[in-house]
Amino acid sequence: EKEGYEHFMLKEIHEQPKAIRETLMRRLDDDDQIKLDGISLTLEDLENFNKIYIVACGTAYHAGLVGKYAIEKMARVPVEVDVASEFRYRDPFVDDKTLFIAISQSGETLDTLAALREAKRKGARVLSIVNVVGSSVARESDDVFYTWAGPEIAVASTKAYTTQLVCMYLIALYMGKLKGTISKEYYAEMIAELKAIPEKVEKIIEKAGEVEELAKFLYNRDQVFFIGRGIDSAVAYEGSLKLKEVSYINSFAIAAGELKHGTIALMEPETIVIALASQDRLFDKMYSNIVEVKARLAHVVSIAKEGNTKIEQESTEVIYIPNCADEVTPLLTVIPLQLFAYYVARERDEDIDKPRNLAKSVTVE
Ligand code: F6R
Repeated sequence: EKEGYEHFMLKEIHEQPKAIRETLMRRLDDDDQIKLDGISLTLEDLENFNKIYIVACGTAYHAGLVGKYAIEKMARVPVEVDVASEFRYRDPFVDDKTLFIAISQSGETLDTLAALREAKRKGARVLSIVNVVGSSVARESDDVFYTWAGPEIAVASTKAYTTQLVCMYLIALYMGKLKGTISKEYYAEMIAELKAIPEKVEKIIEKAGEVEELAKFLYNRDQVFFIGRGIDSAVAYEGSLKLKEVSYINSFAIAAGELKHGTIALMEPETIVIALASQDRLFDKMYSNIVEVKARLAHVVSIAKEGNTKIEQESTEVIYIPNCADEVTPLLTVIPLQLFAYYVARERDEDIDKPRNLAKSVTVE
């Protein structure tokens, strides 16, 4: 079933252009209008919600962090993102004016399921973003929005994450359009950006050899830092989780602006820092953070949009992603990070598809 790939993780990384296309195109009609799989979210519903909770675990939680940016920007409603195991024990402000969004690949994660039940009990409307059809989370939700990623076998989640992101963007755009918080032009621009993503992901995958070389050079380090601002910080968390779970290298992700409040103390000559600098809006700020770590002689691998060559001055290496709008960069920046985690783990000869101590779905507390 690996279809010639050495591991499921690599196969699933390669399946992303197709999976993203599937998740997206099934929801767009001929006029590029979004259909939410028959989910009825009326303007009245949207005006009733005064807040949204996005609750999930692990990688799905990281998709939720990007979802917060998208929904707050496009639909102008406050969004809180929480890990399910915390949400449950916090007596959160949930009532019938709350939209609760659960994200889960397996649909069987116990903490997510318990959080969902709690939200339902308190009167929230429950929408879930799920990959496994008919799973517990799907069955217990008021509405389900499937990711259509196909089966994900590797324990480390890849295509489930990118398709969860697509679902978040679709929901945010749908809400924004209905509420009138985004213009027709902006909506059309974002749909065009999303439609262009699968091909851009393919381009990044075609250049996987560059990431493989980098991994061969860095695989025996014992710690890696990931930094970024805005949605880049959300992707930094995902890149870090991916690396630690398959390679067992101690990795740490932090919003770049927070570095100087403590973590920069750990920077030494040759410390590996992966710096996500994909946001045009935040580029100068991010550039300053890169200068700060470079001044401590860190080995900086930057991820930036094509053409943004200024970054080369302060980076040891640069991985370029194709140009795109700031909003959708997570769909591209995560790809080299997934590949990096994969190739590092392969260099270290780890059991990539079944990392130690981990299960594909966590059905215990
Ligand atoms: C990481 C990973 C886990 C899952 C988490 C939630 O690669 O796979 O962090 O994302 O256990 O699982 P689901 O999405 O099935 O609820």
